Amino acid sequence: MSAIVIDGKSAANSIREAVKAKIIERVTKRLPIPGLATVLVGDDPASQSYVRAKHRACEEAGIRSVAVNLPADISQQDLDCVLSDLAKDSTVHGILVQLPLPKGLDEENVLKAVPLEKDVDGFHPVNIGRLAQKGRQPLFVPCTPSGVIYLLKEYIDTLVGKQAVVLGRSNIVGMPVSLLLIKENATVTICHSRTKDISTITKKADILVAAIGRPEMVKGNWIKPGAVVIDVGVNRVDDSSKKRGYRLVGDVDYEEALNVASAITPVPGGVGPVTIAMLMKNTLIAAERADA
Ligand code: GUN
Repeated sequence: MSAIVIDGKSAANSIREAVKAKIIERVTKRLPIPGLATVLVGDDPASQSYVRAKHRACEEAGIRSVAVNLPADISQQDLDCVLSDLAKDSTVHGILVQLPLPKGLDEENVLKAVPLEKDVDGFHPVNIGRLAQKGRQPLFVPCTPSGVIYLLKEYIDTLVGKQAVVLGRSNIVGMPVSLLLIKENATVTICHSRTKDISTITKKADILVAAIGRPEMVKGNWIKPGAVVIDVGVNRVDDSSKKRGYRLVGDVDYEEALNVASAITPVPGGVGPVTIAMLMKNTLIAAERADA
């Protein structure tokens, strides 16, 4: 059996085209152009590359974007001032602070400084609280988790009652994706670094979401035949045959998984592009709410 390869680029294009069409409509109605500010602290190459991709996507969608690049040794107070200015700026509808932050900065305080109505990443503690509560909805669905659910729904008619196993419990992916899967009425098991005998658990999963940041950790014999596998991992591994000296691999051993799963996302070209498309969508939603 060879799994269907879930095409994240094509899914992302559909989302981005829909956003672009709505922005063109806004322009004809003389409504404000949606604006996104990214805040990047430090010079981590992977974060720089993610932020560049977000700005490229904004440009293509017709979103005005502002890049705020700050030194790694910025004080908490100075960072708070930058965020407070962006919070007051009515041309900025969405604010994204790229994570992880350099050591010495308090992530929770920084995320709380982004006003809820501009929190297009959906990382504000109140937003996550709403995501976690039954009968409540978040203001913004965090982008990567939202992309994971979107891709799953393209290949599975219903998530209701499915056994979903999430590898990883990070604030950015593992925890919010688990909460979303629960909202979809899946039965969710979260595995993490202290989980014993992980492969026994993953082998029972109809849906396996890998977000652990360990290159190719999930082997073919960890996967239930016919499972849908969503690989959120983006890991750089040394490869001297490549001009840049590394290649990107996921958390799943892709070649092995292809023979067992019914559908799988590739890395790159799977979840990554959909994450960025969801950011464009959330920025548009923030601008639409600001019209009212
Ligand atoms: N770092 C890794 N993924 C993300 C993301 O989706 N948003 C932000 N702000 N930082 C990240």
